[in-house]
Amino acid sequence: MALIIGHRGARCCAPENTIPSFKLAIEAGVDGIELDVHMTKDGELVVIHDDTLDRTTTGSGYVKDYTINELRKLDAGVKFGVEWRGVKIPTLDEVLREFGNKTSFVIELKHGSDVYPSIEEEVLNLVKKHNVKAKIVSFDFNALERVRQLDDSVELGLIFIGKARWFIDIAKKLKAQWLQAEYRLINESDVKITHEAGLKIGAWTINDVDIAIKLTEMGVDEITTDNPSLIIRNLKHTR
Ligand code: G3P
Ligand code: CA
Repeated sequence: MALIIGHRGARCCAPENTIPSFKLAIEAGVDGIELDVHMTKDGELVVIHDDTLDRTTTGSGYVKDYTINELRKLDAGVKFGVEWRGVKIPTLDEVLREFGNKTSFVIELKHGSDVYPSIEEEVLNLVKKHNVKAKIVSFDFNALERVRQLDDSVELGLIFIGKARWFIDIAKKLKAQWLQAEYRLINESDVKITHEAGLKIGAWTINDVDIAIKLTEMGVDEITTDNPSLIIRNLKHTR
């Protein structure tokens, strides 16, 4: 039975990485929501995917060059659709407070402390403050290493595009529990060797029902999707 995770909430149907998107994913019945974290100029953790504001908001330039008060003035909904006008970039604190008693979180660090000072400590502090169930994931293995140095037990996942066997030793060294693999490169042997190594394997990002079914039949432990409602509806019998 694979966990179903809402990628940036339910980005099929609401502006990604916003409160309405997370609400929609939770209403669809996800096991957790995935979100991406960056840091403002004044050290606030904000939930947004890109380093820059241009694609998803009415702002432009790098997130790190703005204060939280400046970012609060931007609209993070209208580019998805005029009916979403007024939706804001949420802080990680707000999201964990709002949904911490309703779901679990897959928190992606887009950069570690080489770019965002002390981001690993700050994320862990918020996870503890809200007492939420969270897994911290990243393509940046140095950031994961720093998280592990700070916290011996928090769940960690290595995100990668490649074959599982390339990452098992690194995962073990970091005491990570998860491999987060791009779904197109996962086959039965990847699942088998991951499980034999005592790790779990998650697949991203799947929006096709047949592919989701195939991956769950292979034994994948987690499916991340932009369209939780579609995937959950069609995987019900396997869950
Ligand atoms: O969970 C992994 C996935 O979210 C990574 O891709 O670009 O959507 O952050 P991206
Ligand atoms: Ca992500």
